[in-house]
Amino acid sequence: MARDQFNLDGKLAVVAGASRGIGQSIALILGEYGAHVVALSRGEDGCAETVELIRRGGGSAEARACHIGRMESIEAFWTWFHRSHGDRLDILVNNAAANPYYGHILDTDVASFEKTVDVNLRGYFFMCVEAGRRMRDHGRGGAIVNVASANALSPGDKQGVYSITKAGIHNMGKALARECGEYGIRVNTLVPGLTRTKFAQALHDDEEFMAKQLPHTPLGRGAVPDEMAGAVLYLCSDAASYTTGSSIVVDGGYLA
Ligand SMILES: NC(=O)c1ccc[n+]([C@@H]2O[C@H](COP(=O)([O-])OP(=O)(O)OC[C@H]3O[C@@H](n4cnc5c(N)ncnc54)[C@H](OP(=O)(O)O)[C@@H]3O)[C@@H](O)[C@H]2O)c1
Repeated sequence: MARDQFNLDGKLAVVAGASRGIGQSIALILGEYGAHVVALSRGEDGCAETVELIRRGGGSAEARACHIGRMESIEAFWTWFHRSHGDRLDILVNNAAANPYYGHILDTDVASFEKTVDVNLRGYFFMCVEAGRRMRDHGRGGAIVNVASANALSPGDKQGVYSITKAGIHNMGKALARECGEYGIRVNTLVPGLTRTKFAQALHDDEEFMAKQLPHTPLGRGAVPDEMAGAVLYLCSDAASYTTGSSIVVDGGYLA
């Protein structure tokens, strides 16, 4: 009985940033638990591997290109989505983020600032708005999970603008949760700590950063992407039916 609470049979999920890393792990677990997964990344074939892995496990999925830093791409995606799936949508996971600049905050250039804000704030927000409107209009509610970062709660050195946008994502979940609860839409946030992915390669390569980071991480290591997926499954499922406006920190104890 309790196990059924995690069942996503018949649910339709969109996962942004699903071609690799944390987003791929999330897409795989949602597919494994029964959701049909629409896997997004910038490249046409970017999510082909994710779709193949879900199908091989007995699930169903499809890949689609969408650049969430570009409004015209977001609009084109939802137009396609409506043609393909009508008014259905149960789950959105916003996971595709940008961090183009790694360096002293006072050396931040305008182009890096704009790219980070365009993807991490405008992109996340309008993906939520488009999904939220569908969930409101079809009347069955839904679950949205935004992937933030431990940097949202304690800014990372040399990751100033990124940390600022991640703090915005953290509050975005709360703002949406407050106004969307009346439609049965739950909005929550995953707060990952350091995870071994392509995105975090610069951090793993920075010996000074790692020497500071690991002693402050009680579990003494970074995560692997699959260690993020269970919390997102929970937030997307009926097991979290009374959870909204919440943030789940999965960081090996770094923020403790
Ligand atoms: N890794 C960490 O240590 C860590 C820690 C805390 C939080 N996070 C957060 O976790 C999330 C996933 O990070 P990750 O480490 O798994 O990164 P990753 O391995 O680099 O994966 C990023 C994913 O997002 C897609 N993507 C990037 N920009 C996009 C855009 N503008 N539009 C659509 N898709 C885009 C990428 O595919 P394409 O390149 O094919 O577009 C890829 O599928 C991010 O929100 C990140 O901020 C990561």
